[in-house]
Amino acid sequence: MKKKSRQIFTSLLFLIIACSISSCSQDVDVMLNDNSKEAIAKNVDDLLSKMTLDEKIGQMTQVDYAAFQDFNDINKYFIGSVLWGGGSEIDDLSASGWAKVADSIMTFSLKTRLGIPLILGIDAVHGHNNVDGAVIFPHNIGLGCMRNTELVDKAAGVTAEEIAGTGMHWTFAPCVAVARDIRWGRTYESFGEDPTLVAELGAASVLGLQGGDLSDGDAVLSCTKHFVGDGGTTNGIDQGNTEIDEETLRKIHLPGYISAIKENTGSIMASYSSWNSEKLHGNKYLITDLLKGELGFEGFVVSDWAAIDQLEGDYKSDIEKSINAGLDMIMIPHGPSAQGKIGDNGQVQNTYLDFITYLKELVNEGKVSQPRIDDAVRRILTSKFNLDLFNKTKTDINLTAKVGSTEHREIARKCVQQSLVLLKNGNKTLPISKDIKNIVVAGRGANDLGMQCGGWTISWQGSHGEIIKGGTTILTAIKNTVSKNTNVTNSLDENSMKNSDLIIIVVGEDPYAEGVGDRKDLNLSIEDLNMIKKAKNSSKPIVVILLSGRPMLLNNILEDCNAVVAAWLPGTEGQGIADVLFGDFSFTGKLSQTWPKSMDQIPINVGDVEYNPLFPFGYGLSY
Ligand code: BGC
Ligand code: BGC
Repeated sequence: MKKKSRQIFTSLLFLIIACSISSCSQDVDVMLNDNSKEAIAKNVDDLLSKMTLDEKIGQMTQVDYAAFQDFNDINKYFIGSVLWGGGSEIDDLSASGWAKVADSIMTFSLKTRLGIPLILGIDAVHGHNNVDGAVIFPHNIGLGCMRNTELVDKAAGVTAEEIAGTGMHWTFAPCVAVARDIRWGRTYESFGEDPTLVAELGAASVLGLQGGDLSDGDAVLSCTKHFVGDGGTTNGIDQGNTEIDEETLRKIHLPGYISAIKENTGSIMASYSSWNSEKLHGNKYLITDLLKGELGFEGFVVSDWAAIDQLEGDYKSDIEKSINAGLDMIMIPHGPSAQGKIGDNGQVQNTYLDFITYLKELVNEGKVSQPRIDDAVRRILTSKFNLDLFNKTKTDINLTAKVGSTEHREIARKCVQQSLVLLKNGNKTLPISKDIKNIVVAGRGANDLGMQCGGWTISWQGSHGEIIKGGTTILTAIKNTVSKNTNVTNSLDENSMKNSDLIIIVVGEDPYAEGVGDRKDLNLSIEDLNMIKKAKNSSKPIVVILLSGRPMLLNNILEDCNAVVAAWLPGTEGQGIADVLFGDFSFTGKLSQTWPKSMDQIPINVGDVEYNPLFPFGYGLSY
C-alpha cells in the first residue's frame, strides 16, 4: 500500500480501535494524523492504560509456532508474538505457503478485545533462509570479507523484502558477535574478529532491514544479538563463559550494539552465554543499567530460546530474575503437550502456560513490579506501532512475488563475488580462460547447494544436497560460464585427470549450526585431503575452493595446490564464484578472521602481542 492510503487506513483503524476501547476521546485527533514519536508514545500509553495484567503478560510472551496445540490459545492468553525457530517448519515452505500460515495466525490475535496484532519473528540470518525458493546470501563471515557497508545494507534490504513477502515482521538478525575463537560453531554468524568491522556492518544491516521508516511495507524489525560477549567464550564453547574484565567486554563486544542502537535497532536478544560465570539472562547490570540506561536503548529485549530456563533455581525464580534483569519478552518453545515432560537436557520442559501463570503470581506477590511490566509492554507496543503492525495484518502479495527474484539474486551474486578471498595464486593459475579445453570440477562441494549454504538453511542445522529451489551450484555456474568448446567433467578419475588442463576441487565443512559446530580440530576431513592428494598425483594445475564457516587448517594444501580460494558459505548464488574464477571480476575480499597455522595458535586475533598467523586479518590477493 502506498504511504498516503496506508495512513488513511491506519487512521480509520485507530479510530475504530479507539472508539471500541473507550468512548471516542479527544485524543483520537493525535492518533489520526500523526506518526511522530510523541503521537506513538501517546497511543501506547492510551492502549496500556486499558490493558489488564493478563493482556500485558500476554504481550511479553513469545511462543514457537510448533508449541501450539490450539491456536485459540493466542487469543485466550493474549499472546504477543509467535516465532518459528530453526526447524519449526510448516508443510508448504514456499513463500506463499509461509504467507498463508502467517496471515492465518494473525487472525487469532485480532479476535482479542484490544485486537493488538502479533509480531511474527523468524531467523532470516542470511536471506529469508527458511523459505524454499528464497535467495540465500553468504553467511556473515563472508560479508565481513567484502568490507562493503553499502552492499550489506542492500542485502539486508532484500532480506527484509522477502520476509515481508511472507507476512512476517521481525528477524533475529543481525548477529554482531565478535568471534574471537574460530573453534566456536557460530563463527560464521559473526562479521569478523574485529569490533570496528562488526560495528560497521552490523549497523548497515540494521539500516537495510528496517529501511528508512519501519512503517514501510517492506521494512522489518531487526534484532541485534546476542547481548553480549557471545563470541568471546573460553575455548570458543557455544553458550559458554566469557572470562574478561569489563574494559575488554566494552572494547571488543559492545561496539556492535552502540552502532546498532544509533541505527535504532528495534530489539536486542540476550545471549545464552555467561560473563564471568554469570548468565547474561539474569544480568541486571548489563541489560538494564548498561544497555537501557547508559546506552539509551529504547527498543525491547527478547530472551533466547528457552534460555531463562538455564538460570539457577526453578522456573518461577528464572522468570523473576530475568524480567527484573530487564528482559521484556520471553521466547518459549514449549506448549501444553510438553507440560510436565522431561526434555533432551534432562530438565522439565517449561511451557508458555507455566510462564503466564508464574509471571502473574510474581506480580501479585510484588516480586515483579507493575512499573517493570509496564516498561516491558510499552517497549513492545511501541515497536508494534513503529512497524505500523495494525496495518500489516495481511501479507502484501506483491512482495511475495519478489521472493527469490532475479533482481534479488543479482545482489546476492555481487556479495558472493566480493566475499571470496584469494589465499594463493601460484603461476597466475587464476583467472581461468573461458576457452579452456578440459576442466575437472570435483570434490564434495562441487555440486552441493546445501553445503554451499551451510547451517540455518531450510532447517536449523542445514544439510547436504538440493535443499532449496532456484540456486546455482559451483559446477553449474562453471558450466554456465565456459565457452561452448569447453568440456567440464564432474569426476576425478584417471581418465578425466589425464585429459584435463586444470582441476578444481571443492572441499570443506558439512553443514552445522550453533554448538553442534563447536570443534577441537579444524583439519579438513580425510576424504577431502585424499581427494586433493589424488589430484596432486596428476601433476595438473589444481585450484582448491574451500566451503567453510571459518578458516580451516591448510597443512600441505598450500604447497600441493596452485591456487586456494576461501569461499566461506556463499549461499545459493554460486554464479558469483565462477564470475571471479573466470576473470569477469577480480578478487577483492579481505579476511575477516585471522587464518592460523595450527590448532595450538587458536585463539589468535589481530592485535595479539604474539601474532604470527598463516594469513593475517585483512589478507587477500587479487589479480
Ligand atoms: C539461537 C538464536 C535464535 C533463536 C531462535 C537460538 O537457539 O541462539 O540465535 O535466534 O534460537 O531460533
Ligand atoms: C534453536 C532453534 C531450534 C531448536 C531445536 C534451538 O537451539 O535455536 O531454532 O529449532 O534448538 O531444538
